[in-house]
Amino acid sequence: MSIEYSVSPEGKRFPIPVPEDHKKELSRLKKEIAKQKQLNREIVVVMGVGFVGVAMAAVIADTVDKKGKPSKFVIGMQRPSIRSYWKIPILNKGISPVISEDQELAPMIKRCVLDKKTLTATFIYEVLSFADVVVVDIQCDYIKESLGDVHNGHAEMSPLEESLAIMAEHITPDTLVLIETTVAPGTTEQIAYPIMKKVFQRRGIKKDPLLAHSFERVMPGKNYVASIRDFWRVCSGINRHARDRVVTFLSEVINTRDYPLTVLDKPIESETAKIVENSYRATILAFLDEWSLFAENNGVDLIKVINAIKVRPTHSNIIFPGPGIGGYCLPKDGGLGIWAYKHIHGFEDNIFRITPLAINVNDTRALHVAQLTRDALRNMSRPIAAADILVLGASYREDVGDTRYSGSELIVRKLTEMGAELKVHDPYLTHWWEFEKQGTYPKKGYSLSRFFHNQEKLSNLKMQKNLKEALKGADAIIFAVRHKQYLGLDPDEVKKMVGNTAAIIDCFGILDDKKIRRYFELGCEVKGLGRGHVRRIKDEVRMQGMRGKVKK
Ligand SMILES: NC(=O)c1ccc[n+]([C@@H]2O[C@H](COP(=O)([O-])OP(=O)(O)OC[C@H]3O[C@@H](n4cnc5c(N)ncnc54)[C@H](O)[C@@H]3O)[C@@H](O)[C@H]2O)c1
Repeated sequence: MSIEYSVSPEGKRFPIPVPEDHKKELSRLKKEIAKQKQLNREIVVVMGVGFVGVAMAAVIADTVDKKGKPSKFVIGMQRPSIRSYWKIPILNKGISPVISEDQELAPMIKRCVLDKKTLTATFIYEVLSFADVVVVDIQCDYIKESLGDVHNGHAEMSPLEESLAIMAEHITPDTLVLIETTVAPGTTEQIAYPIMKKVFQRRGIKKDPLLAHSFERVMPGKNYVASIRDFWRVCSGINRHARDRVVTFLSEVINTRDYPLTVLDKPIESETAKIVENSYRATILAFLDEWSLFAENNGVDLIKVINAIKVRPTHSNIIFPGPGIGGYCLPKDGGLGIWAYKHIHGFEDNIFRITPLAINVNDTRALHVAQLTRDALRNMSRPIAAADILVLGASYREDVGDTRYSGSELIVRKLTEMGAELKVHDPYLTHWWEFEKQGTYPKKGYSLSRFFHNQEKLSNLKMQKNLKEALKGADAIIFAVRHKQYLGLDPDEVKKMVGNTAAIIDCFGILDDKKIRRYFELGCEVKGLGRGHVRRIKDEVRMQGMRGKVKK
C-alpha cells in the first residue's frame, strides 16, 4: 500500500497515520492524561485546530488558577486528512500551524507545548472520552452556487454534523460541549441536540447532552490572541446546567473581569447575535457601494466625505469598503441566517431583503476595479488585453496575510478573463493558494475560478518577492490593499521603477491629492474607487501643462 502524505505550506511532508499509529497515539495520550489528572487539571479537547481553534487552544492551555498554576490540559483534535493532518505534528513541536502577525501567538504555543506541557495535538477521536470540556471550532461554510446571488447556495453542515455524532459516541454525559463555530441560528438546539441525544439514547445514557454556544470574534492581525482572550463574549446554554457550566468555563479561560460576558437565554439567541453582528457590518459596508459610484460619476471624493461624517460620534464606524469585503465571515454569515430560516425553521416566505443584497453587492464590488483599470488604460491608448498589470496587495485587509475571499482575488480573475497578464505583490504572503492550488483550494470544485473564463494559467501565478522588480514594465498598478508598505510609495520613485508611465488605480483611498496630482504631472493616468475628484485634479494639471508650468 502506498503511503499518503499531508504537506505543510512550507512543503514538509508528514505521512498520514496508519492503524498502528492510532494504537500508539492512544497509549501516549492515556499516560499523559493520567499525569495531568493527578495535577488536578481539567481536560479540554478543542475540535478543529484551524485558524480559530489553534489560538483558542493556546489561550485555554495558558490558563492559570488563583495560585498561578496551570489549570487546564488542552488536546487539539484534528482529522488526519491529507489537507490538515500536518497541523498536528507541527503543533506538537511547539510551532503554530497558523502564521500570524501577532507577536504573542508563537511564543504562547511554544511555552504551552514545550515548557508548561499543557497543550498537545492529536488525530484520534478516542481522546474525547477523557474530556471535561469539548470546544468545537470546526468550520461551517456557506457554499454559493453563483457569483452575486447568495440565495443560490447552502450551508455545508456535514463536517459539523459528523463531528457531533462522533463526539456523542465518545464523551461522558457530564462533558460540556461548547460550540464556538458560527452556525445557522437554531443549530445547537435543532441539529446538535437531536444528533447527540439519539446517540446518547443508543448508549443507554438518559441525561441530555450539555450543549452551549459562544461565538468567536477573533480578528486576524497583530491582536489575534487578544481578540480571543481580552474581548467581550456572548454565550448561552441549552439548559440552566449547561449555561452555568459555560459561564464558569469562559470565566476561567478568558478575561471576563475586564470584558464581562453577556449571557443570553437560549443558544438560538447567541447564534443569531453572531449572524446579525456580521450582517450589520456587511450592510454598512455594502450601502457605500452605490455612493462610491455616485462619487465617481459626480466629481466627489468619497474618502473625504467619509472622514467628514466620521467626526460625528453617532457615525464614527462608517468605513470605506475598498474593493469588496472579504475575510472568512462577512461573505458567508448572513447566508447561514437565510438558509436557517428556510431549512431549519421551515419558513417558505422570503423575509430577507437587505442582508442578501449586502452580501451580493460586497461579493461583486471588486469587478468594478477591472472596469476602472480598463478605462484608465484606454485613456492611455493601451488595450487591456495586452496589458501587464501589477496588483499590490492580495489580502482582504491591511497588514495581514489572509487572502480568504479578498477583493484582490476577483480583480485578478476578472482582468485575466479580459486578457491581461497579472502579477501580484503582497509583503505578507509567499503563496496565494487560491490560485496556485485552484483545482483543490479551498476545496475541490469550490474555487472562484468556476465563475470566470480563461483561469487555467492562474495556477502559475507566483507572488512577487521584490516590489521593485514587480513594478518594472507594468502598464497598470492597482493599489488594492492599505498595507503600510504601500502608503508611503512616492510617485516619482514608482515611475522610475516602472520605467514608463502607467495607469494607477486606487481601490482604498491610498493616494492623497498631492500624489494623485504628481502621477498626472508625470504623465500617468489615475482612477480610484469612490474618487470622482481625480478628474478635477487631472484637468488642473492639464491646464498648468498648457501654461508650461509642469516639471516632468
Ligand atoms: N477565521 C476567522 O477570522 C473567524 C472569526 C470569527 C469566527 N470564525 C468562525 O470560527 C469557526 C472556525 O473557523 P476557522 O477559521 O478556524 O476554520 P478552519 O477551516 O481554519 O478550521 C477548521 C478546522 O476544523 C477541522 N475539522 C473539520 N472537521 C473536523 C472533525 N470532524 N474533527 C476534527 N477536526 C475537524 C478542519 O480540518 C480545520 O482544521 C467558523 O465557524 C468561523 O466562521 C472564524
